[in-house]
Amino acid sequence: MGFGRSASSVLVLGALRLASAALIKRVACPDGVHTATNAACCALFPILDDIQANLFDGGECGEEVHESLRLTFHDAIGFSPTKGGGGADGSIMIFEDIETAFHANLGVDEIIDAQKPFVVKHGITAGDFIQFAGAVGVSNCPGAPRLNFFLGRPNATAPSPDLLVPEPFDTVTSILDRFADAGFTPTEVIALLASHSVAAADHVDPTIPGTPFDSTPGQFDTQVFIEVQLRGTSFPGAGGNQGEVESPLAGEMRLQSDHTLARDSRTACIWQSFANNQARMQSAFKSAMLKLSVLGQDQSKMIDCSEVIPTPPPIGDTPHLPAGLNMNDIEQACATTPFPALTADPGPETSVAAVPPS
Ligand code: HEM
Ligand SMILES: *[C@@H]1O[C@H](CO)[C@@H](O)[C@H](O)[C@H]1NC(C)=O
Repeated sequence: MGFGRSASSVLVLGALRLASAALIKRVACPDGVHTATNAACCALFPILDDIQANLFDGGECGEEVHESLRLTFHDAIGFSPTKGGGGADGSIMIFEDIETAFHANLGVDEIIDAQKPFVVKHGITAGDFIQFAGAVGVSNCPGAPRLNFFLGRPNATAPSPDLLVPEPFDTVTSILDRFADAGFTPTEVIALLASHSVAAADHVDPTIPGTPFDSTPGQFDTQVFIEVQLRGTSFPGAGGNQGEVESPLAGEMRLQSDHTLARDSRTACIWQSFANNQARMQSAFKSAMLKLSVLGQDQSKMIDCSEVIPTPPPIGDTPHLPAGLNMNDIEQACATTPFPALTADPGPETSVAAVPPS
């Protein structure tokens, strides 16, 4: 009896010790409000509040979030073991004049100029800020995974060379080769393209800025994987633009690269696997984004401040076909598994509204 008691007391004490060790690890931040596992993460809370209020219009999943997410990619993918480039190092902001002149970076100057004052004001490095803003921004999109954020990218000392950012008119082979050179598998490439769920184009067809890639650009859902698989029937504008192919819905833009990746035998089954699987898309996007966000950096020397990133709101819709379309409009491309059966939204065919500028 006595023996049993002391053994269980030891267990209880052990559990308490573990619990308090976990508690001791948290430090109180100087703001008197937050705690963090590493004191260095405390500096991020005021930046979080500032960008939510003053960059993302009070926590929206709108144009600045979309552009900030695109910028995480265009900074990071400037990385090649043979051609140079420092990856996620802020070079796109520090050497803005050089890198925004690259054709593939058309339009990113707008968000760089919107972000720069926050970098200067908060004394954070450009590389850290770009990835932080991307992760915070995505957290405003219902259905998004809660992205990781690691702190500690030094300011870039050199620009990235040109021709490392993929273009929408590149072939599947060239896109997969470019990503492989930067360390990404085809599955990771397709997972990263979940980003086109919260996206619109300003410059593919400059006559119709803000034209979305799916019908729900304010939701981080799987609609882009469904809608890109539908037969294209018309252009949202006049057509004839480099990198654009026909889309299934009025007001929707389809990139040639998304179209071909959804239909190529190397990537079609991966593409299809995300079409009605929100959880799979979220977890694949989250891991691929972490890899992207630390490209060219030594992650073991960085501080994990993921706890600062807010939890995104839950998804507000379920995978569906747009109204007026049916499964016959799906262009089956995966040779081994049928595209998941989906039903259409009720009502007549609708058109997709542009993402408003803010
Ligand atoms: C095959 C690779 C990719 C190609 C060819 C590509 C191409 C494009 C193009 C042409 C646009 C439209 C830009 C404009 O006209 O304003 C765009 C937008 C966008 N891309 Fe990609 N992209 C790729 C991969 C990625 C990745 C990996 C991410 C992020 C992880 C990303 C995030 C975005 C976002 C969020 C937008 C919308 C920007 C906005 O709404 O302002 N893209 N992409
Ligand atoms: C990094 O560069 C930016 C932009 O040039 C600058 O505002 C910032 O103070 C620099 N940060 C550090 C820590 O050097």
